[in-house]
Amino acid sequence: MNGQSSFKAATKKPGARIGRERVENTLRISEEQYRVLFQINPQPMWVYDLETLQFLAVNDAAIEHHGYSREELLAMTIKDLRPPEEVPRLAEYLPRAGEGLNLWGEWRHRKKDGTEINVEITFHNITWLGRPSRLVLVKDITDHKRALKALEDAEQKFRSIFENAVVGMFQTTEEGRLLTANLALARIYGYESPGDLMRSVNNINKLYVDPPGRAEFLRRLSERGAAWGFEAQHYRKDGSVIWVLESARAVRDSTGKVLYFEGSVQSITDRKRAEETLRELSGRVLQLQDEERRHLARELHDSTAQDLSIMARNLRRLSESRSLDPGVDKILSETLEMAEKCTRGVRTLSYLLHPPLLDEVGLVCALGWYVRGFTQRSGIRVEVVTPTEYRRLPGELERTLFRIVQESLTNVHRHSGSRTASIELVLDTDRVKLEVRDEGRGIPCETLKKFHAGGVGLGVGVAGMRERVRQLGGRLDLESNGSGTVVRATLPLQGARA
Ligand SMILES: Nc1ncnc2c1ncn2[C@@H]1O[C@H](COP(=O)(O)OP(=O)(O)OP(=O)(O)O)[C@@H](O)[C@H]1O
Ligand SMILES: [Mg+2]
Repeated sequence: MNGQSSFKAATKKPGARIGRERVENTLRISEEQYRVLFQINPQPMWVYDLETLQFLAVNDAAIEHHGYSREELLAMTIKDLRPPEEVPRLAEYLPRAGEGLNLWGEWRHRKKDGTEINVEITFHNITWLGRPSRLVLVKDITDHKRALKALEDAEQKFRSIFENAVVGMFQTTEEGRLLTANLALARIYGYESPGDLMRSVNNINKLYVDPPGRAEFLRRLSERGAAWGFEAQHYRKDGSVIWVLESARAVRDSTGKVLYFEGSVQSITDRKRAEETLRELSGRVLQLQDEERRHLARELHDSTAQDLSIMARNLRRLSESRSLDPGVDKILSETLEMAEKCTRGVRTLSYLLHPPLLDEVGLVCALGWYVRGFTQRSGIRVEVVTPTEYRRLPGELERTLFRIVQESLTNVHRHSGSRTASIELVLDTDRVKLEVRDEGRGIPCETLKKFHAGGVGLGVGVAGMRERVRQLGGRLDLESNGSGTVVRATLPLQGARA
C-alpha cells in the first residue's frame, strides 16, 4: 500500500508541473496566434487611437488592399483614408459607438492610387497599449455594389421595354389569373391602365369569344410548352369583339412544375378586316371571271360558231355547183375545210370556257365530256370515279369542282410528265371531297413550301383553286413528292349559291 502511495506522490509532483507549463504555453501560443490571426486575416483590419485617430496597427490585407505601406499607414489618421466630403460625416459618427460589435454601414475610402472604393465598416472599442482605441474590420463591397447597380439597370431597362412595348405582355397563373400586364395589353382591351385591367378581368379565360379556342390554346401550351401565333377573337371592355394574335410559353421550376404562363397579345383586327375585304374582292373577281367566261362562251357559241357554220354551209353549196373551174374549186374546198375546222375550234373553246353540260346535266356529265377531250388533246389516260348515285349540287359548288379538275389536269399535262391521272369525287352527307392524282415528277419543293406558307409567289392556277375553295368555306391541300401529286379539295355542302 505504502509503496503504492509513495509512487503516486512521486508521480504527482512532476505531473502538476507539466500541467501548469502547458497552460502557460497555451496562453502564450494563443497571444501569438491572435496576433497572427490579425496579421494574416484576409479582410483588411486595423486599430486606431480614438483621440488622435492615428493608426496604431494595420494588417497585411489592409496594406495590400489600400496600397499604402505599413509605415505610411502608421503615419496617417483614418481621416486621410477618406475623400474630403466624407470627413464631416466621420466626425459626426465617431462618438456613436455602443458596447460590443458596432456596425457602421457603408463608407467610401480612397486608395493610395486615388481610386475610391465602397466599404462596410464593423468595429469593437478596445484598449490598445493602454489607450482607448478601435479594432476595425473593413469589407470591400465595390464589386458587389457594381453588380447590384448593373442588375438594377438591367431591371430598369427590361421594365421600360415591358411598360412601353407596343405589344401587350402578360403573366398569368395556369388557371388564367393575371399576374402582370403592361399598358399596351390594357389598351388593347380598352382599359385605362394595367391596374384597371387586372381589377376588372379576374380570369383571362373570360376574354375568349370561343371557349373551345382557349382550350385548344392551353392544350398546345401544355403539350409543347409554348404556343406561338394563335389567332382568336376576344371581348373588349365595351363588349366589342377584336381579333388577337396570342403567343405564350410555360415557365417552369427546376422540377418541371409550371410556375406561370407568360406571353404577348397583338391586336390584328385591322389585318383581319383587310383580309376579309381582300377575300370579298377576290371572290368578286372570280365570280366576274366566271360570268365573263360564260358570256364569252355564249357569244362564241350562239353567234360566231353559228355564223361560221352558215359560212361553211354556203361554201359547201358553192363547191357542189359544177360551173366552177378546177382552180377555184380547189380554193373553195380548202376554205370550206378551214371554215369547218374553225367552227369546231370555236365550239370547243366555248365549251371549255363554260361547258353547257355543267348547267344543264351537272358535274358528272361535264367531267366525263371534259376528260374525254383532255385525253384526246394530251394523250394522258384519266380514270374517273364518281358516286353512283350523284345528286346535283349547288351551281357554285359544281362550277368550283369543275374548275379544280380543269386546272389540275392542265397542270398534270404541263408540269408532271405523268402518263396517267385519276379523279375521285366522294359525296358525304355534309361535304364533298375531290381528289386529282398523277404519277409524275411532283411539285418542286420551293413551290410546295410557298403553298404551305400561304401562297405568295405561286402561279395563278393553284392560288385561284385555293381561293375558289376558300370562298365556299372549304380547304385545298396539296401533297406531292417525287412519285406524284395529289390535289385534294374538301368543301362543305351548306352555304353555296345555286
Ligand atoms: N401536277 C403537278 N406536277 C408537277 N408540278 C406541278 C403540278 N401542279 C403544279 N405544279 C407546279 O406548281 C407550280 C404552280 O402551279 P400553278 O398552276 O399555280 O401555276 P402554273 O401552272 O405555272 O401557271 P398558271 O398560272 O398558268 O396555272 C407550277 O409552275 C409547277 O411547277
Ligand atoms: Mg397551272
